[in-house]
Amino acid sequence: MQSNGYQSGFGNEFASEAISGILPLGQNSPQRVPHGLYAEQLSGSAFTAPRHSNRRSWLYRIRPAAMHKPFEPRIHGTFHNRFDETPVTPNQLRWDPWPMPAKPTDFVDGLVTLAGNGGAAEQAGCGIHIYAANRSMEGRFFYDADGELLIVPQLGRLRLATELGVLEIKPLEIAVIPRGIRFRVELLDNEAGGYVAENFGSLLRLPDLGPIGANSMALPRDFLTPHAAYEDVEGDFELIAKFQGNLWTARIDHSPLDVVAWHGNYAPYKYDLTRFNTVGSISVDHPDPSIFTVLTSLSDTHGTANVDFVIFPPRWLVAEHTFRPPYFHRNVASEFMGLIEGVYDAKAGGFAPGGASLHNCMSGHGPDAASFEKASVADVSKPDHLTGTMAFMFETRKVIHPTRQALEAPQLQGDYYQCWQGIAKHFDPERA
Ligand SMILES: [Fe+2]
Repeated sequence: MQSNGYQSGFGNEFASEAISGILPLGQNSPQRVPHGLYAEQLSGSAFTAPRHSNRRSWLYRIRPAAMHKPFEPRIHGTFHNRFDETPVTPNQLRWDPWPMPAKPTDFVDGLVTLAGNGGAAEQAGCGIHIYAANRSMEGRFFYDADGELLIVPQLGRLRLATELGVLEIKPLEIAVIPRGIRFRVELLDNEAGGYVAENFGSLLRLPDLGPIGANSMALPRDFLTPHAAYEDVEGDFELIAKFQGNLWTARIDHSPLDVVAWHGNYAPYKYDLTRFNTVGSISVDHPDPSIFTVLTSLSDTHGTANVDFVIFPPRWLVAEHTFRPPYFHRNVASEFMGLIEGVYDAKAGGFAPGGASLHNCMSGHGPDAASFEKASVADVSKPDHLTGTMAFMFETRKVIHPTRQALEAPQLQGDYYQCWQGIAKHFDPERA
C-alpha cells in the first residue's frame, strides 16, 4: 500500500485516485466503473441532514463491503460499553499508567475500557478506552459501527491503514477514524499505548469561534486526510466489528482495504496538536478551558457538548495578579483527563504520562496543596513559560461512569484525595 502525503482541510469534499481516471464526472454511480471496480456509498450522516452537516463518501473498490462470511459473537475481555456495572462514585479518581501487555497483543486486543456514558443505541455519549499493544494487527481488520474513534497516542507511532488511505501518527498527533471505516493498526515502534474516545454522538467538528474571530485554535487546513491507497490481496482474514457494544467476527477472503479511488467528505483525518494556536488572557484571570477545545461533538441541546476534546499545550502565562494554574472548580460537565507528556501545571506529582484522572459532575477539584502554595506566592510580574507538556481532556455533558475493571485495577490511586488534604487554612479576619 502506497502513501503519498495527505489532503488538507476539515470536512472538505476530498477526491483521490490511486489509479487516475476512475472518479466519474457529473455522477457518482455510473453503469460501469473503470477497471471493473464497484461503486459504493458510505454515509456518515442521515441522507436528509442539512447540507452543512451532510457527510458521505463514494468509494470505488475491488469488491463491495458486503462480501464477507456471517458475523459471530467475539469475546473481548476488556473492551466493551458496559457503563452500568457499578454505582458511579462522586470521588475524584486517578490512575497510574497501564502496563504493557506481557503477551503479543495488537491494537484491538489491547483495548481496555476505563469509563464512558451513553451508548451506541441512543447515539449519544462516549466510551473512554486506553490501548497498549506490542504487535501490529496481522490478518485482521476492524471497524466500529458504534462511534467514531479519536485516537490519542501517548507512546509509539502508529500506521493506520484504512479503506480510504494511510495515516501515520505519533505522540502529540491525533487521528479520527469515522464510524464504520475498516482499518488495520500497525506499530512503527516496538510498543504503542494511548487513549481512545469512542464518540457515539454527532460527528466531531471544529468549535465555533465567536468573539475570537475567524482564526486561532485549530486551523482547518492543519487537518490531514489520506490519499487513496489500496490492497489487492486475497487470503483467510478476520473482519472484527464493534456493533451495539459487543464485538463480532467474520471471515473475509480478501483485504477490505481495496478502495482504489474515492471522493467525499466522510474520511479519516489526523491533526498535529503542536499546531494548535493557543488563546489566553493577556490581562488578568483565565478564560474558561473551552478556549482549549480542539474538536467538539455537539449534543441535541444548544451550547452543550456531547463530548469535547480539549488540550493543555505549552503556552505562556502572563496574567498579572492572578493565580495562574487552573483554579479550584466544580463543573456541571464531567472531565476525564490524560497526559501525553510532561507535567500538568495543577499537580505537583502523581499524574504521570499515560495515566488518567476523572472528575465527575460537581466533584470539587483543582490544584493540589503544593501547587497552590507555590503559585500563590509566585512572582507574576514576569511571564511563565510552560514547555514540554501536553495534557488533554475528554469533557462530556453526561456523568462519566468508570468500569468495574477501572475501579478494581491496581493502577487506581487510593490516596488521590490526599492531594487536597494538606491545603492550609489561611483565613484571618485581621489580615489584609
Ligand atoms: Fe477540571
